[in-house]
Amino acid sequence: MFTDTHCHIYKEYYENIEEVLKNAKKSNVNRMINNGCDKKSNEEVLELTKNYENIYGAIGIHPENIEEYKEEDLKWIEENLKQSKIIAIGEIGLDYHYTKENKTEQIKLLERQLKIAEQYHLPVIIHSREATEDTINTLKKYKVTGVIHSFSGSLETAKIYIKMGYLLGINGVITFKNSKLKDVIKEIPLESIVLETDSPYLTPEPFRGKKNEPARIKEIAEFICDLKGISLEDLTTITNHNIKRIFDI
Ligand code: NI
Repeated sequence: MFTDTHCHIYKEYYENIEEVLKNAKKSNVNRMINNGCDKKSNEEVLELTKNYENIYGAIGIHPENIEEYKEEDLKWIEENLKQSKIIAIGEIGLDYHYTKENKTEQIKLLERQLKIAEQYHLPVIIHSREATEDTINTLKKYKVTGVIHSFSGSLETAKIYIKMGYLLGINGVITFKNSKLKDVIKEIPLESIVLETDSPYLTPEPFRGKKNEPARIKEIAEFICDLKGISLEDLTTITNHNIKRIFDI
């Protein structure tokens, strides 16, 4: 049985959530960690954890929502961490792709959420785009671990995160023809990775271009098995063990 450690299952993207879950089950994906990004999606994540047995939740403010978030949204996150199926703070991080101008504010928001994670002993799910150095330096200041979601950096960066105790979230990007991630994953131990889809985004080959869903963990897993020369069974055992090390799931 697989776990999708990073998806965004919201009504906005999926008309029929029951069907998404049914498809997941057919592909042996029996658990998913649904990630919030802002007030609205965090509330939905919490609601879905209550309605569906297989859905766990991570709540947090994504760096792309830096302009809209309010103080009370952070308070809401802190208040709802005690809900039994909220198992991480995420998706949080740094994103300098569109602008670097607000990087001080982005780091401040990330630090506030890392502080909460440290205080409540919860793992974090980190988004880092074009911000590797600042991400590493910021994470190093807090006694937390978690997942570097959608990891696509160099082998050197991978080794730094692994040494810090983080797992690397690997998704459909690894199946893309021009992806250099294949060479990195060949060099790192399977004990350092978890599988994710980032649904509805980053659909793996040969379905690239279609809307992604947790069921597609299967294509990602098969690709990694071919790359590393191991069985699907071994990959499942190892990645589920990795998840247990980080998440209370
Ligand atoms: Ni995401």
